[in-house]
Amino acid sequence: MVRQAKAALCREHNKPVTVEQIAVDAPKRGEVTVKLGACGVCHSDLSAINGTIALPLPLVLGHEGAGVVEQVGEGVSELAPGDHVIFSFIYMCGKCRFCVAGRPVLCLEQGKALTTPLEGTPRARDAAGAPLGIFSGCGAMAQYATVSAENLIKIDPKIPLDCAALVGCGVTTGVGAVFNTAKVQPGSSVAVFGCGGVGLSVIQGARIAGAEKIIAIDTLPAKLEMAKAFGATDVLSVSEDVVKPLKKVTGGGPDYAFECVGSGDLAGAAYRAIRRGGLAVVVGVAKPSDSTSVRTMTLPFEEKTLTGSYFGSCVPRIDFPRMFALYLAGKLKLEELITRRYSIDEAPQAFADLQAGKNARGVIVF
Ligand SMILES: NC(=O)c1ccc[n+]([C@@H]2O[C@H](COP(=O)([O-])OP(=O)(O)OC[C@H]3O[C@@H](n4cnc5c(N)ncnc54)[C@H](O)[C@@H]3O)[C@@H](O)[C@H]2O)c1
Ligand SMILES: [Zn+2]
Ligand SMILES: [Zn+2]
Repeated sequence: MVRQAKAALCREHNKPVTVEQIAVDAPKRGEVTVKLGACGVCHSDLSAINGTIALPLPLVLGHEGAGVVEQVGEGVSELAPGDHVIFSFIYMCGKCRFCVAGRPVLCLEQGKALTTPLEGTPRARDAAGAPLGIFSGCGAMAQYATVSAENLIKIDPKIPLDCAALVGCGVTTGVGAVFNTAKVQPGSSVAVFGCGGVGLSVIQGARIAGAEKIIAIDTLPAKLEMAKAFGATDVLSVSEDVVKPLKKVTGGGPDYAFECVGSGDLAGAAYRAIRRGGLAVVVGVAKPSDSTSVRTMTLPFEEKTLTGSYFGSCVPRIDFPRMFALYLAGKLKLEELITRRYSIDEAPQAFADLQAGKNARGVIVF
Protein backbone atom coordinates (compact mmCIF):
# COMPACT_ATOMS: atom_id res chain seq x y z
CA MET A 1 0.00 0.00 0.00
CA VAL A 2 1.26 3.46 -0.93
CA ARG A 3 0.84 6.04 1.84
CA GLN A 4 0.37 9.76 1.33
CA ALA A 5 2.52 11.89 3.64
CA LYS A 6 3.40 15.52 4.19
CA ALA A 7 7.17 15.94 4.17
CA ALA A 8 9.91 18.60 4.39
CA LEU A 9 12.09 18.53 1.27
CA CYS A 10 15.28 20.11 0.08
CA ARG A 11 14.98 20.65 -3.68
CA GLU A 12 17.71 23.22 -4.18
CA HIS A 13 20.73 24.16 -2.07
CA ASN A 14 20.42 27.34 0.02
CA LYS A 15 16.68 27.66 -0.66
CA PRO A 16 13.97 27.36 2.01
CA VAL A 17 12.69 23.81 2.48
CA THR A 18 9.40 22.98 0.78
CA VAL A 19 6.57 21.16 2.53
CA GLU A 20 4.96 18.79 0.04
CA GLN A 21 2.61 15.88 -0.22
CA ILE A 22 4.68 12.78 -1.09
CA ALA A 23 3.90 9.11 -1.72
CA VAL A 24 5.72 6.55 0.44
CA ASP A 25 5.87 2.97 -0.88
CA ALA A 26 5.15 -0.10 1.22
CA PRO A 27 8.23 -1.83 2.65
CA LYS A 28 10.08 -4.38 0.51
CA ARG A 29 12.06 -7.30 1.93
CA GLY A 30 14.04 -6.24 5.03
CA GLU A 31 12.30 -2.87 5.21
CA VAL A 32 9.84 -1.18 7.56
CA THR A 33 7.34 1.67 7.20
CA VAL A 34 7.21 3.96 10.23
CA LYS A 35 4.50 6.46 11.14
CA LEU A 36 6.53 9.35 12.56
CA GLY A 37 5.74 10.80 15.98
CA ALA A 38 8.50 13.42 16.10
CA CYS A 39 11.66 14.51 14.29
CA GLY A 40 14.34 16.80 15.73
CA VAL A 41 15.81 19.56 13.57
CA CYS A 42 19.57 18.89 13.60
CA HIS A 43 22.26 21.08 12.10
CA SER A 44 23.20 18.18 9.81
CA ASP A 45 19.83 18.61 8.04
CA LEU A 46 20.75 22.27 7.56
CA SER A 47 24.14 21.12 6.22
CA ALA A 48 22.33 19.02 3.61
CA ILE A 49 20.39 22.17 2.64
CA ASN A 50 23.46 24.41 2.35
CA GLY A 51 25.58 21.75 0.63
CA THR A 52 28.11 21.20 3.44
CA ILE A 53 26.89 17.61 3.41
CA ALA A 54 26.58 17.10 -0.34
CA LEU A 55 23.89 14.57 -1.16
CA PRO A 56 21.92 14.33 -4.39
CA LEU A 57 18.67 16.33 -4.43
CA PRO A 58 15.70 16.31 -4.08
CA LEU A 59 15.86 14.90 -0.60
CA VAL A 60 13.34 14.20 2.15
CA LEU A 61 15.08 15.70 5.19
CA GLY A 62 15.19 14.40 8.75
CA HIS A 63 17.21 11.75 10.57
CA GLU A 64 16.53 12.45 14.27
CA GLY A 65 13.18 10.66 14.26
CA ALA A 66 10.99 8.44 16.39
CA GLY A 67 7.67 6.82 15.63
CA VAL A 68 5.53 3.70 15.54
CA VAL A 69 5.98 0.76 13.16
CA GLU A 70 3.15 0.77 10.63
CA GLN A 71 4.09 -2.17 8.39
CA VAL A 72 7.01 -4.59 8.10
CA GLY A 73 8.34 -6.15 4.92
CA GLU A 74 9.14 -9.81 4.30
CA GLY A 75 11.94 -11.22 6.43
CA VAL A 76 11.68 -8.62 9.21
CA SER A 77 11.30 -10.61 12.42
CA GLU A 78 12.57 -8.26 15.13
CA LEU A 79 9.95 -5.53 14.59
CA ALA A 80 6.14 -5.67 14.39
CA PRO A 81 3.37 -3.11 13.79
CA GLY A 82 2.79 -1.03 16.92
CA ASP A 83 6.43 -1.17 18.11
CA HIS A 84 7.97 2.18 19.05
CA VAL A 85 11.25 2.85 17.27
CA ILE A 86 14.01 5.43 16.92
CA PHE A 87 15.78 6.01 13.62
CA SER A 88 19.50 5.29 13.65
CA PHE A 89 21.03 7.46 10.93
CA ILE A 90 23.97 5.22 9.98
CA TYR A 91 23.17 1.97 8.21
CA MET A 92 25.01 -0.79 10.09
CA CYS A 93 25.33 -4.11 8.29
CA GLY A 94 26.24 -6.11 11.39
CA LYS A 95 28.68 -8.24 9.41
CA CYS A 96 31.69 -6.18 8.30
CA ARG A 97 34.85 -6.13 10.40
CA PHE A 98 33.95 -2.80 12.06
CA CYS A 99 30.43 -3.95 12.93
CA VAL A 100 31.63 -7.23 14.44
CA ALA A 101 34.39 -5.40 16.33
CA GLY A 102 31.76 -3.24 18.06
CA ARG A 103 32.51 -0.09 16.00
CA PRO A 104 29.40 -0.02 13.80
CA VAL A 105 29.54 3.76 13.15
CA LEU A 106 32.48 2.85 10.89
CA CYS A 107 30.44 0.21 8.99
CA LEU A 108 31.92 -0.40 5.55
CA GLU A 109 28.45 -0.73 4.00
CA GLN A 110 26.96 2.54 5.33
CA GLY A 111 27.41 4.36 2.02
CA LYS A 112 25.00 1.93 0.35
CA ALA A 113 22.00 3.27 2.28
CA LEU A 114 22.74 7.00 2.25
CA THR A 115 19.65 8.21 0.37
CA THR A 116 17.61 5.04 -0.12
CA PRO A 117 17.01 1.80 1.79
CA LEU A 118 19.86 -0.70 1.28
CA GLU A 119 18.22 -2.24 -1.79
CA GLY A 120 19.11 1.00 -3.60
CA THR A 121 15.85 2.12 -5.19
CA PRO A 122 13.70 4.98 -3.86
CA ARG A 123 10.58 4.41 -1.74
CA ALA A 124 9.44 8.04 -1.82
CA ARG A 125 8.06 10.03 -4.76
CA ASP A 126 6.74 13.56 -5.15
CA ALA A 127 3.25 14.50 -6.36
CA ALA A 128 4.45 14.29 -9.99
CA GLY A 129 5.82 10.77 -9.41
CA ALA A 130 9.50 11.78 -9.46
CA PRO A 131 11.78 9.79 -7.09
CA LEU A 132 12.98 11.40 -3.84
CA GLY A 133 16.06 10.54 -1.80
CA ILE A 134 15.87 10.16 1.99
CA PHE A 135 18.51 11.89 4.11
CA SER A 136 20.89 9.44 5.82
CA GLY A 137 18.68 6.51 4.87
CA CYS A 138 15.94 7.98 7.10
CA GLY A 139 13.85 10.79 5.57
CA ALA A 140 12.18 11.17 8.95
CA MET A 141 10.81 14.68 8.42
CA ALA A 142 7.66 13.12 6.94
CA GLN A 143 4.47 11.61 8.26
CA TYR A 144 5.63 8.19 6.97
CA ALA A 145 9.06 6.79 6.05
CA THR A 146 10.06 3.41 4.59
CA VAL A 147 13.62 2.46 5.57
CA SER A 148 15.92 -0.54 6.07
CA ALA A 149 15.08 -2.39 9.30
CA GLU A 150 18.73 -1.96 10.39
CA ASN A 151 18.10 1.81 10.60
CA LEU A 152 15.52 1.31 13.37
CA ILE A 153 15.93 0.52 17.05
CA LYS A 154 12.97 -0.68 19.14
CA ILE A 155 12.40 1.31 22.33
CA ASP A 156 10.26 1.24 25.45
CA PRO A 157 6.85 2.75 24.55
CA LYS A 158 6.76 4.69 27.81
CA ILE A 159 9.40 7.12 26.48
CA PRO A 160 7.61 10.11 24.88
CA LEU A 161 8.35 10.12 21.14
CA ASP A 162 9.56 13.74 21.06
CA CYS A 163 12.18 12.99 23.72
CA ALA A 164 13.02 9.66 22.07
CA ALA A 165 13.69 11.36 18.73
CA LEU A 166 16.54 13.43 20.20
CA VAL A 167 18.34 10.25 21.22
CA GLY A 168 18.40 9.31 17.53
CA CYS A 169 21.11 11.91 16.88
CA GLY A 170 21.97 14.96 19.01
CA VAL A 171 21.87 13.40 22.47
CA THR A 172 23.67 10.17 21.59
CA THR A 173 26.21 12.12 19.50
CA GLY A 174 27.02 14.45 22.40
CA VAL A 175 26.80 12.11 25.37
CA GLY A 176 28.45 9.31 23.38
CA ALA A 177 31.38 11.58 22.46
CA VAL A 178 31.95 12.03 26.20
CA PHE A 179 31.33 8.43 27.33
CA ASN A 180 32.56 6.37 24.37
CA THR A 181 35.01 8.48 22.36
CA ALA A 182 36.76 10.50 25.07
CA LYS A 183 35.91 8.40 28.14
CA VAL A 184 35.89 11.58 30.25
CA GLN A 185 37.17 10.94 33.79
CA PRO A 186 35.59 12.23 37.01
CA GLY A 187 37.21 15.41 38.31
CA SER A 188 38.45 16.49 34.87
CA SER A 189 38.02 19.77 33.01
CA VAL A 190 36.08 19.95 29.74
CA ALA A 191 35.71 22.74 27.17
CA VAL A 192 32.77 22.67 24.75
CA PHE A 193 32.77 24.81 21.59
CA GLY A 194 29.20 25.36 20.35
CA CYS A 195 26.09 24.96 22.50
CA GLY A 196 23.42 23.64 20.14
CA GLY A 197 21.61 20.33 20.66
CA VAL A 198 24.90 18.46 20.25
CA GLY A 199 27.10 20.72 22.42
CA LEU A 200 24.50 20.88 25.20
CA SER A 201 24.45 17.07 25.14
CA VAL A 202 28.23 17.02 25.50
CA ILE A 203 27.82 19.36 28.47
CA GLN A 204 25.31 17.14 30.18
CA GLY A 205 27.34 14.03 29.38
CA ALA A 206 30.37 15.68 30.99
CA ARG A 207 28.29 16.58 34.04
CA ILE A 208 27.05 12.98 34.36
CA ALA A 209 30.63 11.69 33.91
CA GLY A 210 31.64 13.78 36.93
CA ALA A 211 33.70 16.48 35.22
CA GLU A 212 34.62 19.17 37.72
CA LYS A 213 34.91 22.11 35.36
CA ILE A 214 32.80 22.44 32.21
CA ILE A 215 33.47 25.55 30.16
CA ALA A 216 30.92 26.38 27.47
CA ILE A 217 31.85 28.57 24.49
CA ASP A 218 29.38 30.10 22.04
CA THR A 219 28.81 33.29 20.08
CA LEU A 220 25.27 33.76 21.43
CA PRO A 221 24.69 34.85 25.05
CA ALA A 222 21.35 32.97 25.15
CA LYS A 223 23.18 29.73 24.35
CA LEU A 224 25.56 30.30 27.24
CA GLU A 225 22.57 30.65 29.57
CA MET A 226 21.24 27.33 28.25
CA ALA A 227 24.68 25.79 28.77
CA LYS A 228 24.58 26.72 32.46
CA ALA A 229 21.19 25.01 32.81
CA PHE A 230 22.71 21.79 31.41
CA GLY A 231 25.75 21.81 33.69
CA ALA A 232 28.35 24.30 32.44
CA THR A 233 30.32 25.71 35.38
CA ASP A 234 31.89 28.53 33.34
CA VAL A 235 31.00 30.26 30.08
CA LEU A 236 33.06 32.14 27.53
CA SER A 237 31.68 34.34 24.81
CA VAL A 238 33.67 33.85 21.62
CA SER A 239 36.28 36.52 21.22
CA GLU A 240 39.36 36.71 19.02
CA ASP A 241 41.15 34.17 21.18
CA VAL A 242 39.44 31.79 23.55
CA VAL A 243 42.58 29.70 24.03
CA LYS A 244 44.17 32.07 26.53
CA PRO A 245 41.09 32.45 28.73
CA LEU A 246 40.59 28.67 28.59
CA LYS A 247 44.16 28.06 29.75
CA LYS A 248 43.65 30.59 32.51
CA VAL A 249 40.34 29.30 33.85
CA THR A 250 41.63 25.69 33.90
CA GLY A 251 45.14 26.42 35.13
CA GLY A 252 46.96 25.20 32.00
CA GLY A 253 44.25 23.99 29.65
CA PRO A 254 41.27 21.64 29.83
CA ASP A 255 41.79 17.86 29.85
CA TYR A 256 39.27 17.56 27.03
CA ALA A 257 37.84 19.92 24.40
CA PHE A 258 34.89 19.15 22.13
CA GLU A 259 34.33 21.04 18.88
CA CYS A 260 30.56 21.00 18.23
CA VAL A 261 30.24 23.62 15.47
CA GLY A 262 31.95 22.26 12.36
CA SER A 263 34.96 24.56 11.85
CA GLY A 264 38.63 23.81 11.26
CA ASP A 265 39.57 27.03 13.06
CA LEU A 266 37.69 25.92 16.17
CA ALA A 267 39.13 22.39 15.92
CA GLY A 268 42.59 24.03 15.91
CA ALA A 269 41.63 26.21 18.89
CA ALA A 270 40.35 23.14 20.76
CA TYR A 271 43.66 21.38 20.14
CA ARG A 272 45.74 24.39 21.18
CA ALA A 273 43.68 24.88 24.33
CA ILE A 274 44.00 21.38 25.80
CA ARG A 275 46.71 20.69 28.36
CA ARG A 276 49.67 18.34 27.85
CA GLY A 277 48.34 14.82 27.30
CA GLY A 278 44.89 16.27 26.59
CA LEU A 279 42.29 15.13 24.07
CA ALA A 280 40.47 17.32 21.53
CA VAL A 281 37.43 15.74 19.88
CA VAL A 282 35.88 17.10 16.67
CA VAL A 283 32.15 16.40 16.61
CA GLY A 284 31.00 19.21 14.29
CA VAL A 285 30.86 18.44 10.58
CA ALA A 286 32.82 20.98 8.52
CA LYS A 287 32.69 21.69 4.78
CA PRO A 288 34.68 19.21 2.65
CA SER A 289 37.16 21.99 1.74
CA ASP A 290 37.80 22.96 5.37
CA SER A 291 40.97 21.85 7.12
CA THR A 292 42.90 22.37 10.31
CA SER A 293 46.56 22.21 11.27
CA VAL A 294 48.49 21.51 14.44
CA ARG A 295 52.03 22.46 15.40
CA THR A 296 53.67 19.12 14.68
CA MET A 297 56.16 19.42 17.50
CA THR A 298 53.39 19.52 20.10
CA LEU A 299 52.46 15.95 19.21
CA PRO A 300 55.63 14.34 20.59
CA PHE A 301 56.52 16.93 23.20
CA GLU A 302 53.04 17.36 24.65
CA GLU A 303 51.44 14.00 23.72
CA LYS A 304 48.21 15.73 22.72
CA THR A 305 45.52 13.95 20.71
CA LEU A 306 43.17 15.34 18.07
CA THR A 307 40.43 12.91 17.11
CA GLY A 308 36.85 12.79 15.88
CA SER A 309 33.59 11.29 17.03
CA TYR A 310 30.85 10.07 14.72
CA PHE A 311 27.39 9.42 16.21
CA GLY A 312 29.05 9.35 19.65
CA SER A 313 31.04 6.23 18.65
CA CYS A 314 27.84 4.48 19.69
CA VAL A 315 26.42 1.02 19.39
CA PRO A 316 22.74 2.02 19.12
CA ARG A 317 21.37 -1.17 20.68
CA ILE A 318 23.56 -0.56 23.74
CA ASP A 319 23.69 3.24 23.91
CA PHE A 320 20.04 4.15 23.20
CA PRO A 321 18.78 2.11 26.20
CA ARG A 322 21.63 3.61 28.23
CA MET A 323 20.40 7.14 27.39
CA PHE A 324 16.87 6.21 28.45
CA ALA A 325 18.10 4.70 31.72
CA LEU A 326 19.85 8.01 32.48
CA TYR A 327 16.71 9.90 31.46
CA LEU A 328 14.42 7.79 33.63
CA ALA A 329 16.85 8.20 36.54
CA GLY A 330 16.48 11.98 36.17
CA LYS A 331 20.12 12.49 35.15
CA LEU A 332 19.78 13.16 31.42
CA LYS A 333 17.56 16.09 30.46
CA LEU A 334 15.59 15.43 27.27
CA GLU A 335 12.36 17.37 27.73
CA GLU A 336 14.43 20.46 28.63
CA LEU A 337 16.34 20.25 25.32
CA ILE A 338 13.14 20.92 23.38
CA THR A 339 12.80 24.69 23.14
CA ARG A 340 10.01 24.66 20.58
CA ARG A 341 7.70 22.20 18.82
CA TYR A 342 6.62 22.78 15.19
CA SER A 343 4.05 21.23 12.88
CA ILE A 344 5.39 19.81 9.60
CA ASP A 345 3.88 22.87 7.85
CA GLU A 346 6.15 25.02 10.02
CA ALA A 347 9.34 23.20 8.89
CA PRO A 348 10.70 26.31 7.05
CA GLN A 349 10.34 28.30 10.30
CA ALA A 350 12.04 25.51 12.26
CA PHE A 351 15.09 25.73 9.96
CA ALA A 352 15.12 29.54 10.12
CA ASP A 353 15.12 29.31 13.93
CA LEU A 354 17.95 26.72 13.87
CA GLN A 355 20.03 29.00 11.66
CA ALA A 356 19.37 31.94 13.99
CA GLY A 357 20.40 29.84 17.02
CA LYS A 358 17.05 30.30 18.76
CA ASN A 359 16.59 26.77 20.08
CA ALA A 360 18.44 24.20 22.14
CA ARG A 361 16.53 21.83 19.85
CA GLY A 362 13.47 22.42 17.71
CA VAL A 363 11.30 19.36 17.14
CA ILE A 364 8.70 18.70 14.46
CA VAL A 365 5.78 16.80 15.97
CA PHE A 366 3.31 14.85 13.85
N1 LIG B 1 29.65 13.85 14.59
C1 LIG B 1 28.38 13.53 14.45
O1 LIG B 1 28.01 12.37 14.39
C2 LIG B 1 27.36 14.62 14.37
C3 LIG B 1 26.01 14.33 14.62
C4 LIG B 1 25.10 15.39 14.62
C5 LIG B 1 25.50 16.67 14.33
N2 LIG B 1 26.82 16.88 14.04
C6 LIG B 1 27.31 18.23 13.75
O2 LIG B 1 27.52 18.89 14.98
C7 LIG B 1 27.42 20.30 14.78
C8 LIG B 1 26.46 20.90 15.78
O3 LIG B 1 25.15 20.43 15.54
P1 LIG B 1 23.90 21.09 16.32
O4 LIG B 1 22.70 20.40 15.79
O5 LIG B 1 24.18 21.15 17.76
O6 LIG B 1 23.98 22.57 15.70
P2 LIG B 1 23.34 23.95 16.23
O7 LIG B 1 23.25 24.83 15.05
O8 LIG B 1 22.11 23.68 17.03
O9 LIG B 1 24.45 24.48 17.25
C9 LIG B 1 25.65 25.07 16.85
C10 LIG B 1 26.06 26.07 17.93
O10 LIG B 1 27.35 26.59 17.61
C11 LIG B 1 27.35 27.98 17.87
N3 LIG B 1 28.43 28.60 17.09
C12 LIG B 1 28.41 28.97 15.79
N4 LIG B 1 29.60 29.50 15.43
C13 LIG B 1 30.38 29.47 16.55
C14 LIG B 1 31.72 29.86 16.82
N5 LIG B 1 32.51 30.39 15.87
N6 LIG B 1 32.19 29.66 18.07
C15 LIG B 1 31.43 29.11 19.03
N7 LIG B 1 30.14 28.71 18.83
C16 LIG B 1 29.64 28.89 17.60
C17 LIG B 1 25.95 28.43 17.51
O11 LIG B 1 25.61 29.67 18.12
C18 LIG B 1 25.11 27.27 18.03
O12 LIG B 1 24.74 27.46 19.38
C19 LIG B 1 27.02 20.47 13.31
O13 LIG B 1 28.20 20.66 12.55
C20 LIG B 1 26.40 19.13 12.96
O14 LIG B 1 26.43 18.85 11.60
C21 LIG B 1 27.74 15.90 14.07
ZN1 LIG C 1 29.09 -3.16 8.90
ZN1 LIG D 1 21.91 14.92 13.48
